[in-house]
Amino acid sequence: MATPVFGGEAQATADETAWLEAHFEACAPEYHAMLAAAGIRPGDHVLDLGCGSGQFLGWIAEMAGPQGRITAIDLSPGNTEAAALRGAALLPRPALLAADALRIPLADSCVDVVWCANTFEYLTAVEQSDYLREMTRVTRPGGTIAVKDSEFTHKIFHPADLGFWLRFLQQLAVADGGPFVGRRLPAAFRAAGLTPTVRTFLSERTGPLGPVDRRWIGLSGRAVAADAMRLLGQEDAAAATAFDRQFDDGPECVLDRDEFYYCEGSIVLVAQTPVA
Ligand SMILES: C[S@@+](CC[C@H](N)C(=O)[O-])C[C@H]1O[C@@H](n2cnc3c(N)ncnc32)[C@H](O)[C@@H]1O
Repeated sequence: MATPVFGGEAQATADETAWLEAHFEACAPEYHAMLAAAGIRPGDHVLDLGCGSGQFLGWIAEMAGPQGRITAIDLSPGNTEAAALRGAALLPRPALLAADALRIPLADSCVDVVWCANTFEYLTAVEQSDYLREMTRVTRPGGTIAVKDSEFTHKIFHPADLGFWLRFLQQLAVADGGPFVGRRLPAAFRAAGLTPTVRTFLSERTGPLGPVDRRWIGLSGRAVAADAMRLLGQEDAAAATAFDRQFDDGPECVLDRDEFYYCEGSIVLVAQTPVA
């Protein structure tokens, strides 16, 4: 059974929604390039699986064109309602379904391309392969399955105490493998009988940041600091607090310094479904 993303709830909290929207706005060029890797062509029927509030739907509509077709599925009815609103003015207009991606309510071989962004995080290795097999079932032979997900190891905040950061990574890996899902996906594809091409897309920014990047990376930094305070022991409490405080507005804010550097990475895997 798939576990809903977002702390056990399929519906994002207000904070998570704010972060997702800031992230999407700031990383639009990178996200567009990741979606382009799926090779959507005019006239394609595209399935956006785990579509969330439908952030990718506008670009999918542009790529599939008016002769194309879009189906978008999410476990959360709240998300499919938000995605339906976002998709209402698009051509083609997406068909929205609230359903479990492990039991996609579509016929065999009916889509050309599956796009699935950031939904593997809380699945076990077995569930990930089941998920990919279900995507394969609904995709025509020779069609495309494209999966984007995160790999936390690529995340860099500079300046930051490197010892503190490495201890945080270690605790994060022990507590929750989800943020490190990216590295496990090539094996999941192989286990499902798929041979993917694999590419990591980095989003890199240097200080001083403009307002859009400042909001996105500031929210990211706060979220990381909250995780560090939760996961690290008392001996790292001061370092976690210092990490958090550097994002405070004011003359010392790290985001406004020339030396500031931020990086994060997403892995995109693209595979063709077998032709009998
Ligand atoms: C982090 S969000 C990503 C949303 C969107 N793909 C994006 O990249 O902006 C993950 C989404 O996966 C959905 N989800 C989680 N488990 C699912 C499942 N078993 N079936 C369908 N959707 C699922 C959640 O409801 C959530 O909307």
